[in-house]
Amino acid sequence: MGIVGTGFIGPHHIDAVRRLGFVDVVAVAEMNDALAKSKAEALGVPKAYGNYEAMLDDPDVQVVHNTTPNYLHFPVNAAVIAKGKHIVSDKPLALTADQARQLRDQANKAGVVNAVTFSYRGNPLVQQMRHAIAAGQIGTPRFIFGHYLQDWLLKDTDYSWRLEPEKGGASSALGDIGSHWCDLAQHVTGLRITHVLGEISTVVPRRKRPKGNREAFAAAGADEAFDLVDIKVEDLASVMVRFDNGARGTFTVGQVCAGHKNDCFVEVCGSTASMRWVQEEQNQLWIGRRDKANEILAKDPSLIDPAVQSYAHMPGGHQEGWPDAFSNIMRDIYGFIASGKKASDARPPAYASFEDGYRANVIVESILESARAGSVWTKVNY
Ligand SMILES: NC(=O)c1ccc[n+]([C@@H]2O[C@H](COP(=O)([O-])OP(=O)(O)OC[C@H]3O[C@@H](n4cnc5c(N)ncnc54)[C@H](O)[C@@H]3O)[C@@H](O)[C@H]2O)c1
Repeated sequence: MGIVGTGFIGPHHIDAVRRLGFVDVVAVAEMNDALAKSKAEALGVPKAYGNYEAMLDDPDVQVVHNTTPNYLHFPVNAAVIAKGKHIVSDKPLALTADQARQLRDQANKAGVVNAVTFSYRGNPLVQQMRHAIAAGQIGTPRFIFGHYLQDWLLKDTDYSWRLEPEKGGASSALGDIGSHWCDLAQHVTGLRITHVLGEISTVVPRRKRPKGNREAFAAAGADEAFDLVDIKVEDLASVMVRFDNGARGTFTVGQVCAGHKNDCFVEVCGSTASMRWVQEEQNQLWIGRRDKANEILAKDPSLIDPAVQSYAHMPGGHQEGWPDAFSNIMRDIYGFIASGKKASDARPPAYASFEDGYRANVIVESILESARAGSVWTKVNY
């Protein structure tokens, strides 16, 4: 495995892959030689490349992870596929739906394994929820709702490349975390979002952009120099959705909501019961009932369905978390690669493909289109 980009999320990809035990992390590529060398040393990776093109020529690198800022997803993913190597891209798959479609088609034509890290699919109770809903345990899904709220952009001194359309895309909150929510809601229900009605806003319209470098999600330093810049992308969005079985839904995303750190939840109300999974309390699954007491199912391999037991690694009462879910995703992806399957073969559930990444890009673009048109119902054209 070789990885391009070793900022916030890159080292978590390395950690998740190392935990599998059958993959060697052989190389990192960064923006320049010095950074690549220092990151490789810090992460204990043998080879360092100051540009990703050089790493792609390394025959020891068979699978490439792309954990660069969004604007580099398209060129890096395309270059990896052109070399005939397997690609694991972080989300969003590309800046636009058109770019994402090109990547999906290019990967399918080349026959390389292509994955997008929609990480919440790897949680044991997300898989339990998906399995239970598919088995009819809550009846027909009728209403699917939730939110994904964070607070790291609350202050006008908070800043990230995610706020610059050329680097992050035409959307900020929706592309960054709305893409996760849409994938999660569709994954647990097995349904497709067909129509959206979006209302978006920029509640912090001017921000202090630091003149120097600042690590992802870090707060501003006391005497940091800055430029005052206008923000053109949304930091808050509320969306009504329709699913392909006629179910209705609604969700809000925002990164300007104090106290909400990584507050993602999804609830599905079915014709006989409801089910809710909350990321910040991810070892519990709430089951709502009409004619008997509600239940809380604690994550416990002996209590969840045998079909999804392999996603839980610790006995009941031993909490599992975000890195464990991330490693589960890598297990599904690399298990698929190691068994020599073709990209077109049926995939394990926690492995989201470029097709899934493309769909998330299309949904986000449709929400922006809806909002631009005055918040009107808009068909999602995949
Ligand atoms: N799946 C998840 O839950 C999740 C979580 C966080 C971030 N992400 C995604 O991961 C990606 C990276 O986010 P981040 O928060 O780690 O960003 P970051 O800014 O912390 O890291 C980006 C890294 O890419 C490197 N880079 C920039 N240009 C490069 C180039 N030309 N060649 C090689 N490396 C280059 C930077 O030096 C930096 O190390 C984003 O697309 C983001 O959406 C996904």
